[in-house]
Amino acid sequence: MINITVGSFKGGVGKSTVSLNFAYELSKYGKVLLVDTDPQNSLAFFLCQEFDKGFSEILFMNADIDNLIKKPFPEDNNNFHFLPTGVYGINNPTYYEDEFSLDKVERFLKLIKNFDFEYIVYDTPPRISKHIETLIQASEDFLLVLTPDPATYSSFVIFLKFLEENNLKEKVLCLTNQTEPTKISEDFTKLISLHFKKRNLGFLPRDLTVIESQGKCRPTVAYNSDCPFSIFLKKAVLNYLKLKT
Ligand SMILES: Nc1ncnc2c1ncn2[C@@H]1O[C@H](COP(=O)(O)OP(=O)(O)OP(=O)(O)O)[C@@H](O)[C@H]1O
Ligand SMILES: [Mg+2]
Repeated sequence: MINITVGSFKGGVGKSTVSLNFAYELSKYGKVLLVDTDPQNSLAFFLCQEFDKGFSEILFMNADIDNLIKKPFPEDNNNFHFLPTGVYGINNPTYYEDEFSLDKVERFLKLIKNFDFEYIVYDTPPRISKHIETLIQASEDFLLVLTPDPATYSSFVIFLKFLEENNLKEKVLCLTNQTEPTKISEDFTKLISLHFKKRNLGFLPRDLTVIESQGKCRPTVAYNSDCPFSIFLKKAVLNYLKLKT
């Protein structure tokens, strides 16, 4: 079982979009559970799923995991599973963040072991907090989502320092989202390629199909597998699988 935390020090870069599509595409190669850990419950909205109980109730209220894992596309994808955040995180925001501990996550991992998932992908809230640090610690991989703009680059340098200081840097994989054919975007992508080398999984273009697919309750890669975003997303998943073999 490989745990992949998707995160960023920045909001709105596409963490939820990337985690959803990455998990869905990965489920063509193995059994996947996508876990939303962000109290905003964005993934439940993207997938048009109920979210009254989920990960936060399992973690903080010992809720029974069995009936909480959903299979949003039973007719065309048996390997894709989804666990929403639930509402405990919204109702107890400070407690949820402050008490998000490694022993709680390890208990969750013990429970989930019986389901034989090959990959667990976690979506996370923006910024770096104890919550995300804990999930990175419990994960084999940390998929950092960036967008190609100068403000992101300066916070990225600070963030790398944080990862180095906490001995987490070797877990980092990078995916740059919302790239555009502009000079700034192209310079940024060059810098990222040089910095991450093989651990750079690729670049995802800004593509209106992404927004359109959200209204259709499906991952973009399932809604339109030939749009530019989907083509590059599929490449990124193949790069990930190549790196793991
Ligand atoms: N490659 C893309 N092309 C076009 N639109 C995109 C792309 N990626 C994400 N978006 C849009 O950008 C918005 C923010 O995306 P998303 O919710 O995935 O970001 P996030 O980092 O998870 O945000 P938050 O920090 O609030 O959790 C959404 O409306 C989404 O549809
Ligand atoms: Mg999000």
